[in-house]
Amino acid sequence: MLIKVKAAHEIPSSEITPESVYRARRAFLKGAGVAGAGLLAGPVLGQEASGTVASPNNSPEALNLASKPQWLVEQVAARQPVPDEGLFTTGEMLTPFQDVTTYNNFYEFGTDKSDPSRNARAFKVDPWTVEVTGAIGKPGTYTLEDILKPHALEERIYRLRCVEAWSMVIPWVGFPLGDLIKRFEPTSKAKFVEFITLIDKNQMPGQRSRLATIDWPYREGLRMDEAMHPLTLLAVGLYGDILPAQSGAPLRLVVPWKYGFKSIKSIVRINFRETMPNTTWSDLQPNEYGFYANVNPAVSHPRWSQATERRLPGSLFMPNRIGTLPFNGYAEAVADLYKGMDLRKLY
Ligand code: MTE
Repeated sequence: MLIKVKAAHEIPSSEITPESVYRARRAFLKGAGVAGAGLLAGPVLGQEASGTVASPNNSPEALNLASKPQWLVEQVAARQPVPDEGLFTTGEMLTPFQDVTTYNNFYEFGTDKSDPSRNARAFKVDPWTVEVTGAIGKPGTYTLEDILKPHALEERIYRLRCVEAWSMVIPWVGFPLGDLIKRFEPTSKAKFVEFITLIDKNQMPGQRSRLATIDWPYREGLRMDEAMHPLTLLAVGLYGDILPAQSGAPLRLVVPWKYGFKSIKSIVRINFRETMPNTTWSDLQPNEYGFYANVNPAVSHPRWSQATERRLPGSLFMPNRIGTLPFNGYAEAVADLYKGMDLRKLY
């Protein structure tokens, strides 16, 4: 696991695919200056997980999908590259594909981190529709193609910080949710957006389990200004390919300044409403999980501190613990959304 970072010119071309990995490595080498400046506590300088980040094995079976829609594979492949710097990259090492796709929270497929990748077998994403309802001019049932076709996809490297105090750096492929919302022509009554995951007991063993505490389907929500923020991404891929089932295929939300539970997977309904929607985790444990769920090192979870996080991959002996940043490092871009709010109470 502990392998010295090679200089870019030492990396054989066989190791620099996919392209995203190459760019991330460059970004990481450049980002070393940022880490050295102390902005990120405990950077993983001098380490490179597993030597190189492996190219994903992208057969439908490897992604736990029944099939891969060819048009979507092509649209993802044609994505715009991630810029070398700025808000849409982090300058940190990517979490390897293997970790991103085997250490998951997707309770519909089981509660252990390894359950989703083991239990999401031959997940059907074709056909897929999204019902769009509520305070908008253009409600309807849209096919995945209707949703995606007008949008140019982008690669974006974001931190993902789970409320359980682990984190990853993931190269997503997607487009700004706000661009989609504009197409639905929201009315002045659209103050919140609610998202709902597929319910399908045949495909999702967690929804059949009598031990499940979640009242399915999984639900999440954002305030309208959060949903329209340029960082808020609707993702359809990662590591240059379409999403594996366990990562939320075919369509998931990614809100990088909020705890990971806001980033709802396998979305089948988007509803625009005047009032704040109920959400899965805040319904289950309101004193532990709030609606806003902004990453906040100053506000502890009732059962653990949020001041630090385990950046994956790590191990028992090398937990790779780093300091958690306010708004997960995106404060400059999003703190204004919460001006005047007491984020200790509105956690
Ligand atoms: N979406 C659904 N439908 N079901 C879930 O259980 N878990 C959430 C979120 N989205 C979850 C979900 C949690 S707790 C986290 S941390 C992230 O997904 C994890 O995303 P990842 O598995 O891609 O890392």
